[in-house]
Amino acid sequence: MKEIKIETTLKLFESVDELPTEVYNLMQSAVEARKRAYAPYSNFNVGAAILLDNGEVITGNNQENASYPSGLCAERTAVYYAGAQFPDAKILKMAICAGSKTHITQTPIPPCGACRQAISEYEIKQNTPIEIYFMGETGQIAQSHSLKNLLPFMFDKSVL
Ligand code: THU
Repeated sequence: MKEIKIETTLKLFESVDELPTEVYNLMQSAVEARKRAYAPYSNFNVGAAILLDNGEVITGNNQENASYPSGLCAERTAVYYAGAQFPDAKILKMAICAGSKTHITQTPIPPCGACRQAISEYEIKQNTPIEIYFMGETGQIAQSHSLKNLLPFMFDKSVL
């Protein structure tokens, strides 16, 4: 028996004002996208913005449904739209802004497991890391240098 240790490293920015300009602008796109979320059931609005290597910025937000599992998270809405519209473009960065409608969320909200799995497909496909920045409605922003860093032991095509 041996023990394996897996480490995850994140960088923390105190506020959007600390972000590099390009990332600040991407986070602003996520903030705007969050305002258009359709989340009447959870009252939890999420916005995501993706920067592609062709310069395009793709945004998405959560889209809920009366049949709850039929809804989709913001990150997957954005990443699937990017894949559908620009199949050959690489995803450079993703910014996520998330929080409740009923109180101010000030801690960074990471993408859920299903979204990490979905994003991992594109990171593997393009063979370059996707930087992920996530925050609440306001406050600190966490940065992961890649999706893989957020999803140790990921399930990928190598096992099929
Ligand atoms: N949600 C996202 O959009 N992204 C995540 O990574 C986690 C959760 C959405 C799904 C649902 O509409 C609401 O937030 C509450 O779970």
